[in-house]
Amino acid sequence: MSSSVEKAKKLAAQQAVADHFSRSFTYVGIGSGSTIKYVVEAIAHLLKGTSSETIPAPSLNAEAKSINQRRPSLDYGIAFIPTGYQSRQEILENGLTPVLFDQLPDDVTLDVAFDGADEVDDDLNCIKGGGACLFQEKLVAQRARKFVCVADYRKAQPRLLTEWPSIPIEVAPIAAPSVIKALRALGSIEPALRLNPLAKSGPLKTDQDFYIIDAPFGQPLLTKSDMEASGESIGTSVDGKWEVVKLAKAIRNITGVLEVGLFCGYDGIEAEELKEAKGKGQR
Ligand code: A5P
Repeated sequence: MSSSVEKAKKLAAQQAVADHFSRSFTYVGIGSGSTIKYVVEAIAHLLKGTSSETIPAPSLNAEAKSINQRRPSLDYGIAFIPTGYQSRQEILENGLTPVLFDQLPDDVTLDVAFDGADEVDDDLNCIKGGGACLFQEKLVAQRARKFVCVADYRKAQPRLLTEWPSIPIEVAPIAAPSVIKALRALGSIEPALRLNPLAKSGPLKTDQDFYIIDAPFGQPLLTKSDMEASGESIGTSVDGKWEVVKLAKAIRNITGVLEVGLFCGYDGIEAEELKEAKGKGQR
């Protein structure tokens, strides 16, 4: 990876933290990937030097309380919710406290969730899962008041599937062949099981011990603006081309699919925040 790309990731992360993190937060979601490590570093840097003594610990559910009872308090009074193994490691390595998603009390909404993306379109829909994490990322994002997507200049494209070649989909191993067949029926060209790059054999396993199928669709996905221009409504398709929300639903409906790496439909304030971050992430 070139040093200018690493610099862009770091700058985007620092800006996102400066704009969207607050010392007063109690629950913060942390995504996965190579950009998020700069987010966690920036948060740790900001918190360093501040005392956690007077900060009340966030409430956790009963199971979590018993797991955490050996700890005197949560560092800085903030629970960081990881989205997988790598994410949890980044949190720990930076001296922060990870609290698993299933340890959160039912009534808790995260103050914010930070995450990276593989591609972001003009409507702020994202492709995610390039690093094989997407299910826990979506769980955490949907539980947050605000989702802040940190993406460097390479990832901003007018439509999804412009530069990023395929949609990552997490599937139950036993269903992989039937999901591939169903994806072909939806028009995916050569959907393929992602292999483990280190072992050079066998499918790559996710944090859930599931598989990833990468599904190319041969052409960019239509946005809301495309639909408005064509006079069609969201959730339909035009001239055989898929619109993002419709494709996400169709893929999620296939039996055996745990989650699809299309994050879409985040409208309103969150979308504005993302738009702002996307502009700042440019070269
Ligand atoms: C992990 O599977 C992804 O969803 C990442 O958030 C995404 O791939 C972006 O990763 P980078 O920050 O490494 O580009």
